[in-house]
Amino acid sequence: MYMLQALDIYKSFGHLEVLKGVTLQVKKGEVISIIGPSGSGKSTLLRCLNRLETIDRGLIEIEGEIMVSTGADKRAHYGNENDIARLRRKMGMVFQNFNLFPHKSVLQNLTLAPILVQNCDAKAAEQTALALLEKVGLAHKARRYPFELSGGQQQRVAIARALAMNLIYCVLMNLPQPWTQN
Ligand SMILES: Nc1ncnc2c1ncn2[C@@H]1O[C@H](COP(=O)(O)OP(=O)(O)O)[C@@H](O)[C@H]1O
Ligand SMILES: [Mg+2]
Repeated sequence: MYMLQALDIYKSFGHLEVLKGVTLQVKKGEVISIIGPSGSGKSTLLRCLNRLETIDRGLIEIEGEIMVSTGADKRAHYGNENDIARLRRKMGMVFQNFNLFPHKSVLQNLTLAPILVQNCDAKAAEQTALALLEKVGLAHKARRYPFELSGGQQQRVAIARALAMNLIYCVLMNLPQPWTQN
């Protein structure tokens, strides 16, 4: 018997198809690493296994007990809340944490301090923030919230936020701007 079995898992966020038929079987005592590029769906898979996210399709079994399965209607059906809560208590999870403001968008995370602390003009702060997001490959996530990003993406936002403070400091003090020179 598997400790954990996930068969043919599908999960999308709107038009973004993240998990496309993932199968994973874990035996007692096994140590498994899930590796892949930032944003490829590793955390989403783990969150689905722990019912922090719901899957669209597939089957998840914990110690032989079905948590969710897919019927003839091709939709995922979860067990009742009590059963799921009991299964979840068997699982532990350690989260990544990058101290982004959870209630602010990615863009707001980058502009908040420059505007409040450094009295930066809101438009300028936003332009700088967008340029930095472009640099770290996340311009398309500007309006998203930290919880919607992968761990690596959050890390890159945190890096861009640190740079935003630095860059706007350079502009205010009329110092050379490292980013505009290359
Ligand atoms: N709640 C969400 N809403 C919208 N998009 C999300 C959400 N969670 C994750 N994503 C997107 O799904 C993709 C996979 O994210 P994730 O599973 O966290 O990746 P990683 O492999 O780095 O852990 C990323 O493009 C991410 O932006
Ligand atoms: Mg992750």
